[in-house]
Amino acid sequence: MAKNNIIDVHLFGEEIGRIGLDENEGRTSFQYHPTFLASSKYLNIFPNTGILKRVPQAQVFNSFGGKTFHGLPPQFADSLPDKFGNLLFKIWLESKNENDITILEQLAYVANRGMGAIEYHPGNQLPKNASIDLEEIIDVLKSVVEDKRSHKEISLSSKSLINIFKIGTSAGGVNPKILISEHKKSGEIIPGDLEYSDNYHHYIIKLALDEEAVYPREIVEYCYNLTAAEIGIEVMDSKLIENRHFATLRYDRQLGEKQHCLTATGITGWDFRSSTNSNYERLFKLSSFLKIKHTQTEELFKRMVFNVIFQNNDDHLKNHSFIYNKKKDRWKLSPAYDLTYSTNPLLVFKKNIRALAINRKRIDINLDDILKIANEYTIKNPKGIIEEVQDAIPFLRRKLKEHEVSEQVITKMFAKIKAIK
Ligand SMILES: Nc1ncnc2c1ncn2[C@@H]1O[C@H](COP(=O)(O)OP(=O)(O)OP(=O)(O)O)[C@@H](O)[C@H]1O
Ligand SMILES: [Mg+2]
Repeated sequence: MAKNNIIDVHLFGEEIGRIGLDENEGRTSFQYHPTFLASSKYLNIFPNTGILKRVPQAQVFNSFGGKTFHGLPPQFADSLPDKFGNLLFKIWLESKNENDITILEQLAYVANRGMGAIEYHPGNQLPKNASIDLEEIIDVLKSVVEDKRSHKEISLSSKSLINIFKIGTSAGGVNPKILISEHKKSGEIIPGDLEYSDNYHHYIIKLALDEEAVYPREIVEYCYNLTAAEIGIEVMDSKLIENRHFATLRYDRQLGEKQHCLTATGITGWDFRSSTNSNYERLFKLSSFLKIKHTQTEELFKRMVFNVIFQNNDDHLKNHSFIYNKKKDRWKLSPAYDLTYSTNPLLVFKKNIRALAINRKRIDINLDDILKIANEYTIKNPKGIIEEVQDAIPFLRRKLKEHEVSEQVITKMFAKIKAIK
């Protein structure tokens, strides 16, 4: 295998293995590093869902194709961006006249800048710069997205390109977002790709790039975050920037360390784009398989109820994650994220179906469906939890009003946000 068809995988400062790519056969492989394997450390970094086995031989993968996995084992495909990051990636490559790069070359760009704690070495080095101007970055991104939409040629200085590439291509998801770190004392803002010390607040910022938008998606997400916190759902602290952009602290940058995180799709290989495994029953099963504490199973139940009541229908398998505790060698639920009214309420959708089915249903979920899950996973007092979530409906309305979301939007939203019957 040619040298550039192998990349090393590092975690917590040591090489844990290597990914190989056989371009002719379109296959990838993973082999644990013998020293790491022999150390018997961190036995659970990749929960044994039958994909990555803890064996010395190289393991070959040819069943993870398509847009979600790109041929990689799901644990590593989790390091790749989705729609928005890919758009910036493409612009970056076009600017360098590199159009056709392999998936390992893409991982070399992720390098040590990815979400979570997994790093890829050797990485492609990009210049490190000190502070950045948030307003300028947002302006650049706005013009890039507009130009791309109208198929205009994109002309940017290389400094602007490097900046948006560095902070805009790591996180997954469809919507425009960047990573920044803000110094706790001086307030200085630096690119959020490399820094992880505790001297900074590390934010993921979901950007409101369309100033004309009648539906202020980012403000609504902020109000959802406040509502979830109000009823004790664990979310990271968040704030609005310039009253428009939604900034939330990163759970994968805490205590001055990178936290190893994987999405439900990353752990299991269940493709979040396919309906086959997309249901809450699977997610609860995965949680018991990971031996999360019962209080966390109750938390997951509360999140499910929240998503049903507040019409967060885009609750797919990459919108649920787990964090690894390296001291205890075990997993827990990550804080909840991407909680929002998922579709523009001003548009009429023929089908507005839930990503994760409940009791085989994606619409018209009723009390019986929810109670069936509660029964299966021995949730105490499910009706009490449902009531607690429902009681937060006026709180959300108040928050939306306080943040000047239009009456028109609020009315449309609350035509759908209802108690469970
Ligand atoms: N607070 C956070 N800390 C760390 N990682 C996060 C945080 N919030 C989101 N992420 C990661 O970033 C990804 C994208 O974020 P998010 O789901 O909010 O974006 P989105 O573009 O709205 O997604 P979607 O495509 O589901 O609509 C998530 O899948 C998750 O892996
Ligand atoms: Mg998401």
